[in-house]
Amino acid sequence: MPALVVIGAQWGDEGKGKVVDLFSEHADVVVRYAGGANAGHTLVIDGQKLVTHLVPSGVLHKGTICVIGDGTVIDPHTLVDEIAECRSRGLLPENSHLVVGHRAHVILPYHKQIEALREKQANAIGTTLRGIGPAYEAKAARRGVRVGDLLRPDRLRTIVQQNIDALAPVVEHMGEASLSVDTIVSEALAAGEKLAPHIGDASVFLAEALGAGKNVLFEGAQGALLDVDHGTYPYVTSSSTIAGGACTGTGVGPTSIDDVIGITKAYTTRVGAGPFPTELDDAEGEALRQAGDEFGATTGRPRRCGWLDIPALRHAARINGLGGLAITKLDVLRGLPQVRVCVAYELDGKRIESLPMDAEDVGRLVPVYESLPGWEEDLSGARSIDDLPVNARAYAERVAQLVGVDIVLVSVGPDRAESIHIKPPFGG
Ligand code: IMP
Repeated sequence: MPALVVIGAQWGDEGKGKVVDLFSEHADVVVRYAGGANAGHTLVIDGQKLVTHLVPSGVLHKGTICVIGDGTVIDPHTLVDEIAECRSRGLLPENSHLVVGHRAHVILPYHKQIEALREKQANAIGTTLRGIGPAYEAKAARRGVRVGDLLRPDRLRTIVQQNIDALAPVVEHMGEASLSVDTIVSEALAAGEKLAPHIGDASVFLAEALGAGKNVLFEGAQGALLDVDHGTYPYVTSSSTIAGGACTGTGVGPTSIDDVIGITKAYTTRVGAGPFPTELDDAEGEALRQAGDEFGATTGRPRRCGWLDIPALRHAARINGLGGLAITKLDVLRGLPQVRVCVAYELDGKRIESLPMDAEDVGRLVPVYESLPGWEEDLSGARSIDDLPVNARAYAERVAQLVGVDIVLVSVGPDRAESIHIKPPFGG
């Protein structure tokens, strides 16, 4: 099983960083395929925290090659800084340990400027303000700058000038001045020079790696419910976060993918605006936020917290074709008299079992809950499913049964060691 996709099955922040880091031990190559520095993967090794936004979470394994695929949008300055941070910790020792797809699109300061202006308006999405949406818009409109263009000064200047000219009336209407083309171009070229040793054809690289029988791990960003096509639109990100995005975002064909693992927390969180049927807007939600340290890795924003939402997870299982489920943060639910899971919804008095298409309707859903007994014990020492207190185990197994996907991993704490491995990745 050389090609494995790992995705977030909720609204992001499911603990992908830790799971990908664990699975990377068995991987030769780890690839990011969508999104950009809106993602924040928190990695904890021996109590030390490293947050990566663009570099794949496989970076901690010294022999693993990290690839940033063509479906991502890259802020070149963030990437330069992140590479420097990794190097200062002895990671990515060789240039060949990081390949950056030359077809990936580049986030430039005017993307962030226009996003910040829009997000001040009434219909804000609550984005991460990293310029993600405007960069994908420019890509779809065929006026984007690609990573390969960072090495072509004339072309870069022409595209930047066209974009600044096209945005000028909007920016001025919103009370700001256009940014300087000279500054944007010279800073982008300087970053491009530093990135040059990494820039290449990621699709060819991956085809060769798979052809040679290497284990390739495709690392999803954000979560299934933030997918631009299948999420809670318009409260979504602008990319294909689901497993299918691993193909479009890397230039690897679907017949090459062997398995898909979905990650879910033992409860649910969401950052930014948008419907969240099982949200706990009360002391219980605050207690979950504190217990789970639910504050954004990228923006520091408090995450909205609530019970696990099974119909939403079934939606994620279907649109990703999940072959396995990793449950994270089970330890956080400790100390509750009972734990609830939403097994269906009611909309206008009618029971429904799948997510409506319309975000307003999703916002009006009334969850139908099933209650399970809680547990008092600390789970962090559990290393096998048999080590779990009976109620914690029953909870995890009930979740898997309701979603209809087998559990492959349970995480019981932030550290690598605090994990229960049920089925190893890449077939063992
Ligand atoms: P954008 O991706 O910055 O455009 O933000 C769009 C929506 O996706 C907002 O609600 C963000 O809070 C959310 N979002 C983007 N990236 C992440 C992530 O890595 N974790 C959780 N939410 C995210």
